[in-house]
Amino acid sequence: MTFPDTVPHDSTPSDDDDAADDNSNNKPHPLHRRLKSFVKRAGRTTDGQARAFAELGPLFLIPYKPEPLDLTAAFGGRAAPTVLEIGFGMGEATAHIATVLPETNFLCCEVHEPGVGALLKRIGEQSISNIRICAHDAVDVLDHMLQPGSLAGVHVFFPDPWHKKRHNKRRLIQPEFVKKLAEHLQPGGYIHCATDWQPYAEQMLEVLSAEPLLRNTAEGYAPKPEYRPLTKFENRGIKLGHGVWDLVFRRA
Ligand SMILES: C[S@@+](CC[C@H](N)C(=O)[O-])C[C@H]1O[C@@H](n2cnc3c(N)ncnc32)[C@H](O)[C@@H]1O
Repeated sequence: MTFPDTVPHDSTPSDDDDAADDNSNNKPHPLHRRLKSFVKRAGRTTDGQARAFAELGPLFLIPYKPEPLDLTAAFGGRAAPTVLEIGFGMGEATAHIATVLPETNFLCCEVHEPGVGALLKRIGEQSISNIRICAHDAVDVLDHMLQPGSLAGVHVFFPDPWHKKRHNKRRLIQPEFVKKLAEHLQPGGYIHCATDWQPYAEQMLEVLSAEPLLRNTAEGYAPKPEYRPLTKFENRGIKLGHGVWDLVFRRA
């Protein structure tokens, strides 16, 4: 999310972070280039988050393993449509959506440890049972743990915008990755993206529209689906006059 400078959101990589730059002496072969959509941030885990890790981690964390995941078993034997969320940040929207869509299972990936602790804490406070968290790169999870055709939906809310041109290749919503996401959807499954960075919204619209497996559910940008709440960061942005764009595409 492109938070204003005054808004602390320690999981958002800054485009000034030169560690984010590819080292030109160490560039992988183009055929083997791998999407690296995040830079791991330092961040303080609070006592409450640490408690949530200790008490709820064993119940709600799915360890990353490069082998197919039995989704029904992962959700305690509950077979239900499964939505993959990529990059939930502190989990505010995730927890809300899981409570308003109780019939859906949510498999949620985030690499920022305090964010994982924060969502575990919300799960405990709100007695949520339909979320599982994989504290790992969603690209690996998709490649190695999830079967093609297994997902009812994918949520990508305010992915890191990677503003600078030389960092644009780190954006999640790009053709190869969208193709992979689309292949993991069941027929009728959807991808819902949201961003507050207009150039990224335009890229999302272009890339999603060009994927042959997907159809736009709207003419261009979609109205915000009711299940997606306005988070405090988004509300603050809207008050500052920033736009927000939702996109919802379905697999035919
Ligand atoms: C700008 S934040 C937005 C967080 C949240 N969706 C929100 O709306 O507040 C983007 C998040 O995506 C996470 N992220 C980026 N790439 C990821 C990946 N490949 N796998 C898992 N998480 C990722 C980052 O760690 C970061 O917390």
